[in-house]
Amino acid sequence: MKIFLDTANLDEIKKANATGLLDGVTTNPTLISREKLCFTDQVREISQVTNGPVCLEVISSKAEDIIPEAETLVKLIGKALIKIPAGEEGLKAVTALTAKNIPTVVTLCFSPLQALLAAKAGATYIAPFIGRLDDIGVDSTKIVEQMIQVLHNYNFSTKIIVASVRSPLQVLKMALLGADIVTLPYKVFSMLNTHPLTDIGLEKFISDWEKFNKATNTTTNKNIKE
Ligand code: G3P
Repeated sequence: MKIFLDTANLDEIKKANATGLLDGVTTNPTLISREKLCFTDQVREISQVTNGPVCLEVISSKAEDIIPEAETLVKLIGKALIKIPAGEEGLKAVTALTAKNIPTVVTLCFSPLQALLAAKAGATYIAPFIGRLDDIGVDSTKIVEQMIQVLHNYNFSTKIIVASVRSPLQVLKMALLGADIVTLPYKVFSMLNTHPLTDIGLEKFISDWEKFNKATNTTTNKNIKE
């Protein structure tokens, strides 16, 4: 499973990247606006920090405007994946951008049928927003399972970037389904590798070692004689 960070915050991207586990970054207009920085500088810096792709979302709503906007974003950073909202105008633009070999992510995707149409239009990725589905009482696991089935049935190469993730349990459910990518807020990313039993176990190892040091006058296990 690839892990992207769902943020435009440089510090968070740097911290996640330092783990060696980060495969890319997704942004959206809300996340970009939260940083209150110059868009082009911000995006260039993000692309320098991460080795993987950076998803940038278009603001235009008509296909005729989305297409040149996507081309501008790709010029800004070569490794941009262009996020385009699902819907008629969005899919028209995806068809045109696919013909130009510009990679796309169909975002705000909430149903398996939207996923089917996005894949037919040639979307490189589709992004189901699972947290927002769960918020309104729809079982997002079922929806993503059906999306995976539909893509598999027709042998589409379109991959899934699961977005709007709120908890480690959702990440587990998506991993069990075999979702290609999850994009996570930094908070959820950092929660994946924490467990109270790890903390308790580590504390015990350290305190036992310190007691042993005191008793034997050994200062560290680094001065083991070869
Ligand atoms: O990538 C989409 C994601 O940022 C939306 O998340 O938490 O606003 O539903 P949320």
